[in-house]
Amino acid sequence: MKALVLAGGSGTRLRPFSYSMPKQLIPVANVPVLEYVVRNVLDLGVTEIGVIVGDRVDEIRKALGDGSRFGARLTYIQQDAPRGLAHTVAIARDFLGDDDFVMYLGDNMLPEGIADIAEEFTTHRSAAHVVVYKVPDPRAFGVAELGPGGEVLRLVEKPEQPRSDLALIGVYFFTAAIHQAVRAIEPSARGELEITDAIQWLVSAGADVRASQYEGYWKDTGNVEDVLECNRYVLESLRPAVEGEVDDASVLTGPVVIEEGARIVRSRIEGPAIIGAGTVVEDSHIGPHTSIGRGCVVAGSRLEYSIALDGASVTGVQGLSSSLIGRSATVGTVGESTDRYRLVVGDDTRVEVAA
Ligand code: G1P
Repeated sequence: MKALVLAGGSGTRLRPFSYSMPKQLIPVANVPVLEYVVRNVLDLGVTEIGVIVGDRVDEIRKALGDGSRFGARLTYIQQDAPRGLAHTVAIARDFLGDDDFVMYLGDNMLPEGIADIAEEFTTHRSAAHVVVYKVPDPRAFGVAELGPGGEVLRLVEKPEQPRSDLALIGVYFFTAAIHQAVRAIEPSARGELEITDAIQWLVSAGADVRASQYEGYWKDTGNVEDVLECNRYVLESLRPAVEGEVDDASVLTGPVVIEEGARIVRSRIEGPAIIGAGTVVEDSHIGPHTSIGRGCVVAGSRLEYSIALDGASVTGVQGLSSSLIGRSATVGTVGESTDRYRLVVGDDTRVEVAA
């Protein structure tokens, strides 16, 4: 089996972060989402991985390299514009050959892995095997109607009136039968070749298409709230490790990771929390459920349920909660004044201050 990992999407819902980094590289517990995706694929024993990239190819390549660090072989395949998930299968045709493959959206987090689903696919080896998840409002997703034995009866992309609450999530298994379907379909109303339409084409042609209902934790990390929630979830299973320095005046409680070269001075780190390599924390209280990236400075501050990306600096700010702070961003105070805010805020940024 091969894998096709999709890391081309532009991430408009993750602005402003996605202006300067591909959304698939947003870190959860200090590891890029895309790396969890690659590791879940490797857990299946799949090492031939095609990575679909858009205009952010350089950063994705820099993050994953040629895959040798993971024991994988990565082939980068560039998509000229977001022309749909089925279009990525078409442009990966040479890479995929006639092999079975798993297609995996590079911003979907399934921390418990996908081994059980892969096994269901290999047991039945249906033409396509999709993964569905019960959601309260499935209108933003592909929606599946299933028969009693898990067979797919019908799939509709983003229906206005969904006929079930089962949304397609970003993991699909295919045999080479999908290639004929991809060639047969036309672009949708949004101008994309929809994988949902290609799979529906297989259903209409009488092919065996099955679904697994996923019961584990799943998150499409498409917006800030989802990234923060996912970070909280993944930190829950953090294995404590202190590789940096913690002075005698500091206290660590709960599962805490202090990466190499980080320094904790006169501070309290309340786990689950992770402090990235080379970061300095002084006179601060961090956590719970907080990830601080590499090379950050946190001084005289209180930060909980938050993520700070690499190089961020937070000084003298007491009440930060559920915040996502971008790379090399600075959050601080203005002199002694307590009734003034000074903001230098980039495009599409959101700032919420006390009323
Ligand atoms: C895509 C698929 C949709 C699926 C979703 C999962 O939607 O078209 O069927 O439910 O991924 O995240 P998109 O994110 O392109 O709107």
